[in-house]
Amino acid sequence: MEKELYLAAGCFWGAEHFFKQIHGVLATETGFANGHTDRPTYQQVYTDTTGYAETVRLRYNPLQVSLPFLLDMYFKAIDPTSLNRQGEDRGTRYRTGIYYTCDDDLPFIRLAMQQEATRHTLPLQVEVLPLSNFYPAEEYHQDYLDKNPTGYCHLPTALFDYARNNRDTATLQKNDSYTLAHKQLQALADGETDTIALMANTAALLHETFRFWWTGYYRVVADELVLGPFQGPVACMHIPFGRGVCGTAWQEGRTLVVPDVEQFPGHIACSAASRSEIVVPVRRNGQVVAVLDIDSQHLAAFDDCDRHWLERIVEP
Ligand code: SME
Repeated sequence: MEKELYLAAGCFWGAEHFFKQIHGVLATETGFANGHTDRPTYQQVYTDTTGYAETVRLRYNPLQVSLPFLLDMYFKAIDPTSLNRQGEDRGTRYRTGIYYTCDDDLPFIRLAMQQEATRHTLPLQVEVLPLSNFYPAEEYHQDYLDKNPTGYCHLPTALFDYARNNRDTATLQKNDSYTLAHKQLQALADGETDTIALMANTAALLHETFRFWWTGYYRVVADELVLGPFQGPVACMHIPFGRGVCGTAWQEGRTLVVPDVEQFPGHIACSAASRSEIVVPVRRNGQVVAVLDIDSQHLAAFDDCDRHWLERIVEP
């Protein structure tokens, strides 16, 4: 599994070297993002008139490293309150920015920005925008500090050690737990044809394994969702099509990951304790027949690792 993210963190020589140390980052590329000229060269970007930011494209495995972990690392490598300047490098090309290509990433980025803002008295100057364009930099800018170990770098070498030595253990453990849970559920499902029995044991096993707040199913019955087997506190019993996170996931026919339920318009609060949620449509013969709904008491408890495994778990 692979995802991508574009991060502007000042001079891209040091930034790329930093990001490539992180376990779960599969590949990095330096380049120029979100400018307004065609096929910019480094010399043109250096004039600071092209609108481009020196940016690193990261490809990463979300089963090994989560987006919030990457953003946490990112904030360690920048002064997020500094406008158009990182270290001694000044200019709009050295501005900081988080450029995303997947809209589902935006709530996670917003949450990380909110949390980072609480650590500073000055306002954050980090741009958060969809990626509008990206041009790879010339070859000599790729892996610059590997090719030139004594070359210029605005980041301290201790940061590279920090990135190398810290792993996203929460995601790695979660991935291991899902790997085992998936095997156990496959064994439980072997030869079993009763849908309700399978839903009941799937909810129980996931709930026990991960200690979620609420784990269960809503079944499509006529034109609404009706509460099915679940573990956790009592919940609302009927959800209309297109309503709440569950009804929206049914309507859109796709998994919804909600890092902060208060930011989801129309979220149905069965319990005030629930703070984040994931809803995965269950299909049989191409039709959505139910949704698997999981709630957590913690913000941003679910991510692409949960999405990956839960989508596999609900497959027939
Ligand atoms: N929060 C859900 C309703 C179901 S409870 O979480 C169990 C929603 O907004 O659809």
